[in-house]
Amino acid sequence: MRHEHLHIDYQVYATAADLPPDDAALLREAQSATALSYAPYSNFHVGAAARMASGAIVRGANQENASYPVGICAERTLLSVAATLHPGETIDTLAVTAAEIHEPISPCGLCRQSMLEFQNRTGRPFRLIMGGATGPVYVLEDARALLPLAFTNEDLRR
Ligand code: THU
Repeated sequence: MRHEHLHIDYQVYATAADLPPDDAALLREAQSATALSYAPYSNFHVGAAARMASGAIVRGANQENASYPVGICAERTLLSVAATLHPGETIDTLAVTAAEIHEPISPCGLCRQSMLEFQNRTGRPFRLIMGGATGPVYVLEDARALLPLAFTNEDLRR
């Protein structure tokens, strides 16, 4: 038996104003996308925005349902929009935030799995910006870091 150790590298910015300009702009797009959220049950309005490899910006927001499990998160909404409007294109950076939340918000487990599959299918990792309406911002150079020891399509082939 031996012990293994996992760690996640990420950058912490005290405020969005300290981000590189392109990242600050993308986080503002994500914040604007919170207006597209339909969240009458949780009142937690999440917005996501991605800068595609071409420079195009894609947005997504959470869409809830009276049958609660039917609801979909902002990140997976965005990934479906990206795959549909920009087939085959890679994502450069994805930003996620929420209205009236003043700390970084963190993608749920399902979204981590979806982000991983998006990276695998397009063949390129993307950066992840996690923010709030104000407050500190986390930046990961590779969103895969959020889901170590993940189950992937490679496992299905074994
Ligand atoms: N939600 C997201 O859209 N993204 C996240 O990263 C966290 C959670 C949504 C799901 C649900 O509509 C609401 O936030 C409360 O969980």
